[in-house]
Amino acid sequence: MTTILERYRALHPRSAELHKQAERSFPNGVTHDLRHFAPFPIYVDHALGARKWDVDGNEIIDYMMGHGALLLGHAHPTLVRAVTRQIARGTHYGASTELEMEWAGWISKLVPSAQKVRFHSSGTEATMMAVRLARAYTGRNKLVRFALNFHGWNDSVVGYVLPEETLPRSPGVPPAYLGEQIVLPQNDIGALAVTLGEEKDVAAVIVEPTGASFSTVPIDPEFLAFMRERTAREGVVLIFDEVVTGFRVGPGGAQEHFGVKPDLTTLGKILAGGLPGAAIAGRADILDCIEFRRDAEWNLHGRVAHQGTFNANPLSAAAGVAMLETISDGKAQAHAEEMAKRLCRGANRIMRKLGVKGCAYTFSSMFHMSIGVDCPEPADGWEWRWDGAPGASVPMTSPKATSAFRQAMLNSGGGDFMRTGGLTSAVHDEKDIDETLAALEPALADMRQESSL
Ligand SMILES: Cc1ncc(COP(=O)(O)O)c(C=O)c1O
Repeated sequence: MTTILERYRALHPRSAELHKQAERSFPNGVTHDLRHFAPFPIYVDHALGARKWDVDGNEIIDYMMGHGALLLGHAHPTLVRAVTRQIARGTHYGASTELEMEWAGWISKLVPSAQKVRFHSSGTEATMMAVRLARAYTGRNKLVRFALNFHGWNDSVVGYVLPEETLPRSPGVPPAYLGEQIVLPQNDIGALAVTLGEEKDVAAVIVEPTGASFSTVPIDPEFLAFMRERTAREGVVLIFDEVVTGFRVGPGGAQEHFGVKPDLTTLGKILAGGLPGAAIAGRADILDCIEFRRDAEWNLHGRVAHQGTFNANPLSAAAGVAMLETISDGKAQAHAEEMAKRLCRGANRIMRKLGVKGCAYTFSSMFHMSIGVDCPEPADGWEWRWDGAPGASVPMTSPKATSAFRQAMLNSGGGDFMRTGGLTSAVHDEKDIDETLAALEPALADMRQESSL
């Protein structure tokens, strides 16, 4: 009887070999923290639709979906056409284009709060700009963030992950930056009320509007509504980080879904159709802090500077326009959501049948599984209904079980997961989901056999 790890090694000899070489070039042999995976990550050769193929010839159902960028799956013909056409016309003109206006036009049309737009190359840049603009606009310094909410890796938002942490998670960030962060428990209306009431130097509140880590910890809609009301009252800029949820939760993102309009919104991933690209959108009076004026003093000392070689580059713009146009009627999102619900219903059924503790739940097409831990029974087999406990978190799968789960699912043909969750797309179909569910049962059985559960 081979172990999960032995099977993983046997199925991926070429990936193991490449990883050995990669370790000479990159720390841990990888180029993103999420790809750090013991004993080695898989190396992918090509991808199409909902599937990708690794260098060992394994066909894999993909739930990573470009870290959430690929709502239309891999190599969607519409996007391939748009990018192919554009690359032959040039990828950078060092000039303004009609295409960037068309791209911004889609954002303004779809995102309820988008009065003005500015493009960037990554979500990390967008959140950095959002915080900087909020500080410039309000003349205040502090940033309120919530536990486990992720906003990229710039100095303004990185550091403390939980309110009770005394040490930041990333050295290299000057203490002055860390001192300007206030980390609160998510969904704790009382804590937010006290902070905004007592602390008069708060420039902005930033939140993942469906909850921490693309809704791993689901948001309480009342918390969002309170946040909107109280930030407006205190003159604090409310930033929705919709880098993942934008255009995914629906064409207008989480703000449309919840009917809450932030002052600023950060966008990325789906926005650029699978190519690098991001944006900040929102209130014109705040974004206009970037504008040059007929006022030398303002231009020197008042305005927020903003450069960026690849801002609104024509290739990303072409992909972005094609993507936003295609998903603007909401059908892609609705299908992706149905697939995530099917996956969760099936996974919950299987866990109950095997007597494995845990639950699978989804918000829109972002699904999560807590495995080997006690958690509430999801409503309708897929929805985690917030129970109102302020600041409560959800039980998470242990690191040991997470690692075993990912290996076991790859071994059994269940797919490539983002930890124990992932994202579905417009091109996942019932067959993909049912194949994953068929693989889940033996994967969980193997995990139990090896006491990973
Ligand atoms: C909510 C959120 N904000 C910001 C970012 C950072 O985006 P990027 O990886 O493009 O820098 C991410 C990345 O996953 C994210 O999930």
